This record gives sequence, C-alpha cells and structure tokens, in this order.
Amino acid sequence: MDHPGQTELWKAQTLDELIQILHRLFSGDKVNVAEVQTLMETYESNPEEWLKYAQFDQFRYTRNLVDKGNGKFNLMILCWGEGHGSSIHDHTDSHCFMKMLQGNLKETLFEWPGKKGTGELLKKSERVLKENQCAYINDCIGLHRVENPSHTETAVSLHLYSPPFESCYTFDQRTGHKQKVKMTFYSQFGERTPYATSVSQENN
Ligand SMILES: [Fe+2]
Repeated sequence: MDHPGQTELWKAQTLDELIQILHRLFSGDKVNVAEVQTLMETYESNPEEWLKYAQFDQFRYTRNLVDKGNGKFNLMILCWGEGHGSSIHDHTDSHCFMKMLQGNLKETLFEWPGKKGTGELLKKSERVLKENQCAYINDCIGLHRVENPSHTETAVSLHLYSPPFESCYTFDQRTGHKQKVKMTFYSQFGERTPYATSVSQENN
C-alpha cells in the first residue's frame, strides 16, 4: 500500500541522477509504486544522456540494458522503429514502469484468458503514452501489447522491471494460448550483445 503522506518528493535532473535515486527507492523490501512513477515522470528526457543505449534494429524493437539496480531491478531502454510492436504479454509477477523518452507508444490492455486458457482475449482499454509520461502495469492489472503507432517516427522508452525477470508469457489474441519466452538484450551498458546470445523470440 502507498502512503502519500510519507512519500518524499524527488526530482531527477539527469538520467544518472534518476538511476541514483532509483537505487535508493529500491534498496528496501517494499516498492512504493506511486513514488517511483512520479519520480520517473520528473526526469525530462534528454537524448544526449541516453543516446548510447538507443540502438535500433531495422526489423523489430530492441531491449537495451542500462542498469542492473543492485539486483533489485533492471532498467532498460526500448527502441521502437516505425510500426514496431510487442506481442501481448504478462510481467512474471514483477512491477513494470514504462516512461516515454521520445515519440509515442500505444498501450492496449487485455484481460487474462479464462480458466480454460482459450478464446479471444478481451480488450479492456487503450491509450497513447506521450513524451515523459510514465505508465505502470503488473499482472493484477492485466496483460498488454505495446506498439509504436507511427509509420514516420521512431519511439524510445525507459522500462524498469522489479524484481528483474528473464522470461515471460506471450499470448495469442485470437486463441488465448500462451507461450513461455526468454528475453535477451540487444545491447548492455551501451555495448552490442554478441549475436548468438542476443536473438530474442519475443519481448516485453
Ligand atoms: Fe510490458
């Protein structure tokens, strides 16, 4: 539960400062979702600070590791080419924060499949996230698909997952069938991951 009265107000002037404060906020056992979300919104995106992590692929969106958060979280930058999108996926019981650094992303929320795990997934809502906005999702809220709706502009987003996870489930919208997938990084700390270990089946 969040306690607004106890929430300290943080302002992150730079990406480095944001990372420093995140380390403090995640040092304990509990996560104050509202506090982290507000903090991430206070950082005004400055491309000079994140450009080295923003490595694009021609065919699909990429995940680029920025910081390992002392084992408490993974912070990464996702680069979305024109029209690139994710599959519908869950978040492996973790917190997921998604902040826009450049461009817009469309987030579509879905219900979990019914008990039989079959049938078309029900769409709950959709919204477009704009620069500097920070969205939050976890498995209680539902599943989502994220996509760059633009066919002329790229998009870049900053994602924080806590605790970190390496695999999730993706879901077929028409049948509700799920599949476990392992996630990999296109680059880590600004360096391209060697090809053999960077091939990813799907993404979050
Ligand atoms: Fe996600």
